Amino acid sequence: MVILITGAHGQLGQDIQKECENRGIPCIAANSHILDITDTQAVRIFVKNHAPDTIINCAAYTAVDDAETEWRRAYLVNGIGVRNLALAARDAGAVLVHYSTDYVFDGRSTLPYTIADAPNPLSQYGKSKLLGEQEVLTHSDRFFLIRTSWVFGRGNVNFPRKVLEWSKDRDALSIVNDQVSSPTYTRDLARATIDLCETGYFGLYHITNKGSCSRYEWTRFILETIDWKGSLSPAQSSDFPTPASRPPFSVLDNFGSPEVLGYDLPSWETATENFLKELDVIP
Ligand SMILES: NC(=O)c1ccc[n+]([C@@H]2O[C@H](COP(=O)([O-])OP(=O)(O)OC[C@H]3O[C@@H](n4cnc5c(N)ncnc54)[C@H](OP(=O)(O)O)[C@@H]3O)[C@@H](O)[C@H]2O)c1
Repeated sequence: MVILITGAHGQLGQDIQKECENRGIPCIAANSHILDITDTQAVRIFVKNHAPDTIINCAAYTAVDDAETEWRRAYLVNGIGVRNLALAARDAGAVLVHYSTDYVFDGRSTLPYTIADAPNPLSQYGKSKLLGEQEVLTHSDRFFLIRTSWVFGRGNVNFPRKVLEWSKDRDALSIVNDQVSSPTYTRDLARATIDLCETGYFGLYHITNKGSCSRYEWTRFILETIDWKGSLSPAQSSDFPTPASRPPFSVLDNFGSPEVLGYDLPSWETATENFLKELDVIP
């Protein structure tokens, strides 16, 4: 198996690369400078020349709030870029792995969303990711389409990293308690992705760390784990208006994934602890 990783410098891309290296799987790690997925011709030529068996697309436009104004860019990267990869993968006989998001759902449910639930994105980012899903479904017949949520890993700025930064210079924090989902650690998702690729069971998957929490509960867990002495209080999303609306409850039900993988991902609490250990924040 030779794997092409696009968006290889993103937080998930870096851990997919490490997972391949740890398993001795040859991979071509292409960051946005090596391969811009919005460049149709470049994608076609790159895939033809390198002839990967599998393309794992970690490239994405992920600036949720900026996408409200820069929606053309978001649609280009998350929609047309994905189409480019899907067509190139099809022509090369390669499998395509692509990631989508809990933000394709509107969050009005009180039950976790399964792969049978209908998306209804609230934001331009969510719409752009839904467009990418549609491109995969239209142009690929050998694909893994993986929805995940609240991704965090060593390789980029993310919510727990922001919490750690805030904890250094503030003694009071107020965090929203009305956005609920499942934090997902890139190391766990990378392992599950490569395991899934080895099954050949193509299709749509929801893969997140186990359990769910609000951003406030996640913050409380992080701050208690690092023994922060400040005061934390719950807030409402309306206290911090943002350009993009976020779903209030976007927990993904992983139904269908453990059946194929043979395991659940660790709980979000274990994943968060492992991340803090990886950062050397706790022993
Ligand atoms: N982050 C989350 O909370 C979250 C939640 C649910 C789902 N997801 C999905 O999970 C996947 C991985 O996300 P992530 O958090 O690892 O993202 P990330 O850290 O923001 O990385 C995205 C990478 O894509 C690259 N990229 C952007 N435009 C590109 C282009 N035109 N061609 C090639 N590369 C390009 C970026 O490179 P440059 O920096 O050089 O532009 C960046 O390295 C994405 O599909 C995302 O939508 C993420």
